[in-house]
Amino acid sequence: MTTTDQTDVVLEARGVTKHFPVRRTGRDLVVGRRRTVHAVDDVSLHLRRSTVTALVGESGSGKSTVARLLAQLYPLTGGEIRLGGQAVKAGRGRSFRSYVRQVQLIFQDPFASLNPVHTVRYHLTRALRIHGREATGTELTELLERVQLTPAAQYLDKFPHELSGGQRQRVAIARALGADPKVLLADEPVSMLDVSIRLGVLNLLRDLKERLHLAILYITHDIASARYFADTTLVMYAGRIVEGGDSETVTQRPAHPYTQLLIASAPDPDRVVAEAEQEEAGSGEPPSLIAPPAGCRFHPRCPKAMERCRTELPPRFELADGQWAACWLYADGAETTDNAGDHEKAAAK
Ligand SMILES: Nc1ncnc2c1ncn2[C@@H]1O[C@H](COP(=O)(O)OP(=O)(O)O)[C@@H](O)[C@H]1O
Ligand SMILES: [Mg+2]
Repeated sequence: MTTTDQTDVVLEARGVTKHFPVRRTGRDLVVGRRRTVHAVDDVSLHLRRSTVTALVGESGSGKSTVARLLAQLYPLTGGEIRLGGQAVKAGRGRSFRSYVRQVQLIFQDPFASLNPVHTVRYHLTRALRIHGREATGTELTELLERVQLTPAAQYLDKFPHELSGGQRQRVAIARALGADPKVLLADEPVSMLDVSIRLGVLNLLRDLKERLHLAILYITHDIASARYFADTTLVMYAGRIVEGGDSETVTQRPAHPYTQLLIASAPDPDRVVAEAEQEEAGSGEPPSLIAPPAGCRFHPRCPKAMERCRTELPPRFELADGQWAACWLYADGAETTDNAGDHEKAAAK
């Protein structure tokens, strides 16, 4: 984070918010109430060229919604998305197609994202053609070689069910690369795969980051894999990002009590955790996003909660080495910046 600057930023979210309307009940109609799920609130992040950014959080914290918003699959409730420094306008026209070509989404379940009646050749040919590229044997072979499915001829005429889970995810990645994107949004790309082949797929993504200079958003509920695989880590809780920084720093010196809880409950052979700590970590449940807690959303579960945490939303507090946390524990002696841009400037110094 300290060696990069604004010019590396490919995709940026500024204060991005998404509230989903909840189906109205009879009572809602009577009292004139419109309730919403606060799935994502005021999320700001940067995805940089040749960088993997992990977005970590438990199920239901809003990670997939962030990915879908960044892929322009949903309209925003609030905030702004910028691609290459330009604000992105909502719409379905040519600019939308150009956006989709540059920002590709990879899903958790490669079986669901590939059509079972079509071969690998069909999927890749279609991806190349949709994005106005040639789809000769050479291009198809190149795509498969990039995802390390070689010799390519052995895979081109296979159907999805004839491949292993890892091979299917590689085909899904090859198809995304068919668009020649700048950004890959990978939503839990290995969580459906056997543990034994996860590392291979993560290493492939890292290799693509380095060779194709892709900006990758790696979404996961597994903070241990973020440490291993991502350059930068962002931690999400109940629709908000609560901590960010270099992966090494965030995972070795977590600042936010929620991040500390995540790490304490993640299996990590390198670290011995006291059992009492684990017990404490496991307690509590994520809050309702229809009526999220006031103040800090984590306060009902937080072992360090103070009075102000119940009522006042903590801003981002800057810590050392580009790390920040939205937590009142750091209010003293820390410089506050609510603005992500200012944060980046501070980090670049
Ligand atoms: N299309 C939708 N309509 C209504 N609520 C949704 C929709 N998509 C997600 N949600 C809700 O938003 C919250 C965040 O979901 P999601 O982004 O899928 O979290 P994650 O990927 O971290 O598990 C959840 O409470 C979920 O029920
Ligand atoms: Mg999800």
